[in-house]
Amino acid sequence: MDVHKIPELACFQRFVPAMRELWKLDLSEDERWKRVGGLLPMLLDDPELRAHAATWDLTLGPDDKYTNLLFYEDPDYGFVINGLVKGPSGVTPVHDHAHTWTAYSVIYGSEDVIRMQLDHDAPAGKIAKMRETGHYTVKPGFVDVVPPRLLHMERVGDAKTAAIIVRSARVGGFDQRMWNNRTHEHFIDKGPRQVPFELGA
Ligand SMILES: [Fe+2]
Repeated sequence: MDVHKIPELACFQRFVPAMRELWKLDLSEDERWKRVGGLLPMLLDDPELRAHAATWDLTLGPDDKYTNLLFYEDPDYGFVINGLVKGPSGVTPVHDHAHTWTAYSVIYGSEDVIRMQLDHDAPAGKIAKMRETGHYTVKPGFVDVVPPRLLHMERVGDAKTAAIIVRSARVGGFDQRMWNNRTHEHFIDKGPRQVPFELGA
C-alpha cells in the first residue's frame, strides 16, 4: 500500500486537498492547527468513514502498546492521518508528542484527557514532579488540538473508542517523553507504531 496516495473514500478526497490548502497559507502554527481542528469534522461526521470505523479492531501491538492505523502521509507537507482504537478502560502513560502538533477526536466512545504540567523534570528511571492543569472529555463533536511538548494522558470510558488523529508528522520513529501515570517515573519511548491501513471506497 502507498501511504502517500489519498485514500479513495470520498471524505478523504475532500479533506486532504483542504488540508494542503492550509499548508500553502502563511499561518502561525497555532492558527494552522486551529483550522485543522475546524476541518476534522469532514472526516468525523462522514457516514462512510463512520461505518468503516465500526469494523476497526483494537490496535495493540505484541508488546501491548497502542499502534496507529496509518491512512495517509502527505508527501509534500508531512502531515499524517491516523486511526486508533482503544479498549474500554484503557489508559495511556503521561506523555507528550515531542515536536509534533496533533488534532484528536473520536468517532465513537469517549475519553477523559488530563493535562499535566511538569514542575521538576527527572532523567529516565527517576520520578518527576508534575501536577494536573486541566481535565476534559473528548467525545464526538469535540476536537482536541494538542501543541508540541504538552503533557497529557488519556483514559478511556467503559466502551471502546475509535479516534481520528491528524499529526504534523509521522510519529513512531523518534523518542517521545513519557511518565508512568501513577508513579510519574520518567521513561523514553518511540511512540505508537504505524501500521499502514487501506481505506477503500
Ligand atoms: Fe497523546
